[in-house]
Amino acid sequence: MVSHSPEETQRLGAELARQLQAGDVLALTGEIGSGKTTFVRGLAEGLGIPGSSVASPSFVLVREYHRGRIPLYHSDLFRLEGVPEAMTVGLEEYYEGDGVTVIEWANKIPAILPEQFLEIFFETIDSESRKVRISPHGPRYEGREFWKENETPRS
Ligand SMILES: Nc1ncnc2c1ncn2[C@@H]1O[C@H](COP(=O)(O)OP(=O)(O)O)[C@@H](O)[C@H]1O
Ligand SMILES: [Mg+2]
Repeated sequence: MVSHSPEETQRLGAELARQLQAGDVLALTGEIGSGKTTFVRGLAEGLGIPGSSVASPSFVLVREYHRGRIPLYHSDLFRLEGVPEAMTVGLEEYYEGDGVTVIEWANKIPAILPEQFLEIFFETIDSESRKVRISPHGPRYEGREFWKENETPRS
């Protein structure tokens, strides 16, 4: 689908949050400024975490938010290029935990992902428009209702 504003991207995240369960892993890919962190803010709000508290986890591997319906673990691998994969091993411990793990730039280290995950692609179309696609990997995510490729956002 195409989002036409940051608010719309947040709404999309908040809607997805309703479908999420403990143990889910989300892999977010897309260039800088394509809306990944904005989406995570909406996701956090949808989980009942104040969205404004979500910041890019630049200097830590994972930021934890425990005030929502289920915990949110937010990671960003952007700065990890060239870092030995061993440095990111801690991330796996979150996957089977009690919360939802969201990884920005997961494509930088594909081997870090579990067998089943939800992939979300962000693409900048113009200053205010972003294409957002979702692609489930694995039976764990079957039977959940995600937005369709050509759907127009609800407001
Ligand atoms: N439709 C949109 N969805 C998301 N962000 C948008 C949109 N239109 C403009 N923006 C702007 O683009 C930037 C996205 O930044 P951010 O979410 O941090 O991206 P990323 O995490 O992918 O680097 C923000 O400044 C936001 O205000
Ligand atoms: Mg970001």
